[in-house]
Parts: sequence; C-alpha cells; structure tokens
Amino acid sequence: MTKPQLLIDTDPGVDDALAILMAHAHADIAGLSIAAGNVGLGHTVRNARTLVDLLGASTPVFAGCSTPLVRAPSEDAAFVHGQDGFGDVGFPEPKALQTDESAALALLRLTRERPGELTLVALAPLTNLALALRLDPTLPDRVARLVVMGGAVTGHGNTGNVPAEFNIGFDPEAAHVVFEAFPQFDLVDWEATLRHAFDEVQFDAWLQVGDHRADLYGRISRTARTYNLKHARRGVIAADALAMAVAIDPSIVTRSETRAVAVELDGRLTRGATVVDWAGRLGRRAQAKIVLEVDQDRFAAMVRHALGAET
Ligand code: BDR
Ligand code: CA
Repeated sequence: MTKPQLLIDTDPGVDDALAILMAHAHADIAGLSIAAGNVGLGHTVRNARTLVDLLGASTPVFAGCSTPLVRAPSEDAAFVHGQDGFGDVGFPEPKALQTDESAALALLRLTRERPGELTLVALAPLTNLALALRLDPTLPDRVARLVVMGGAVTGHGNTGNVPAEFNIGFDPEAAHVVFEAFPQFDLVDWEATLRHAFDEVQFDAWLQVGDHRADLYGRISRTARTYNLKHARRGVIAADALAMAVAIDPSIVTRSETRAVAVELDGRLTRGATVVDWAGRLGRRAQAKIVLEVDQDRFAAMVRHALGAET
C-alpha cells in the first residue's frame, strides 16, 4: 500500500508533537508549515525543528504568520503546553533549519508541484491556510483532502469564549475564510477529542516500553497532563493526534455527519464558535464531514506505533 502524502499546518504544542510522530510513522510528510497558536511563532517553529531532529528527518519547516489575520494578540495556550509549548523541558537549540519561504507560499507551491496528491492536515489556528487562500483561491482544487482539528460542534468549547474551541477561537476570521472556501473537509472537533481520550495507565505503559519518541513525548506532555487533571479533563487527551489518525486512514471513522458549519465572528460571548446547521434549515452547502466516532483500538495502535511501543 502506498503511504499517505501529508502537508501539515501546525503549532507545536504537545498534541501536535504526537500527531507529527504519527505522521512520520505512518505517512510521508511533504512539509511542516508553522502557525502561532499554542505559543508564539518563535517557539512553535523551534519545536517543529526539535521534532525534525529527533526523527532524523529532512522535512522542511516553513514559518508562517505570527499573529491572527485581523485581531491580535489573542490569548495563547501556554498555561496548558508550557511557556515554550513543549512543557518547558529546556531542549538545546535544534540543528534542523527553518526554510526561508513563508508558510502560505510553501502551501501554494507544494500543492502546485503535486496537484491532487497531498492531504492537508490543519492542526493549528487557520491563519496560514486563510492567507494562502486569499493569495490563490484555487488551492482547494489541488489538495486531495483537508482535515481540520477545530471547533466544538455542540458548543462545549475549551476557551474563555465558552462555545469556542482554541484553534478556531484564536483566529475566527481565518477559520471563516477556510470554511467558506473548501467545498468539503473533515472536521475533528474538541468534543470528539474528549470522547477518544486514552486511559492514563494504559498510555503510561506505552510510554514505558516505547523508544526515544516515547521518551520525548513523556517529557513534554507532563505540564499539559497536570493541567488537564486539575481541570477535571479525564484521560490523555490528544486532539491533533485524533485528526492525524483520520488524515492517515479515513476508514478509521465509524460515525460521522456531514453538515454546513459556519464560524461566529462577532457575538458578545460566542466569538469563534462553530455553528452547525444540524437540521439543514439554512439551505447552505453541507461542507464539513463532522467526525463523531473512530475505531479507538485502531487509533491506539497507530499511536503505539508512533511511540515505538508495540509489544
Ligand atoms: C487544539 O488547540 C491546541 O491547544 C491543540 O494543539 C489543538 O490543536 C485543541 O483545541
Ligand atoms: Ca495544535
């Protein structure tokens, strides 16, 4: 079987790291385009380079926008991922270099060079994708699939704007541009993430038997796991890893609904909410395949493989 070919937009970030380890284990990565989000762009770029070093890969890293498209600055997620986005472990300066080309231009170039071949996996605020779309609205014609980690489809968000999920809430205008431009995409939302958390004890056993990838993940995820425990979030939550599983193997999805989804750009309490037209009342094109359930055993097997923890 030929490997999936992925182009990953990301803001590493602890769960981004697990997703990138999965991509490396199960697919080919054409490039990592980097957004600001979980922490500032300087940290997210550096963290991506640290991962490229760890994997011994030559994956190009493209730095993108350092702020949201319109309103800045937004609150980041350093209180979950650590001040440096990687649990404040204190890694040395990575050897892998970032490429001069900016992320939005790289997204356009790579999809022009390989039309119809690449699955675009969006694990961050959608700033880079939106900018690329404004430069070239034909981008959707050239990607095989788009998989987005973002949103909270029944309003159970994870930000100060209660119904908003972080990736969408950080840059709602960018999400709006992307959701309007792509005729179809897979949406893996925060609520699905919570339903597919891993058992803590089981996950720790994988970290124990895994290789250097498990060691890195164990170290960088401590801060986020402590935060989650304190905030009554159960299990090991791996939002971006779930989206990556869907990108690598769409047959892992066991239940989904395709609906029109729009982004709230205003709203006193709701800016950044993903509004789903569940009953089809608005007559809008249903563009989002909302992932509701995946095969948890297969998801777990993909994660174990990525951590070198197969027994
Ligand atoms: C999303 O926000 C970030 O904190 C995570 O990396 C993930 O992409 C979850 O809401
Ligand atoms: Ca992310």
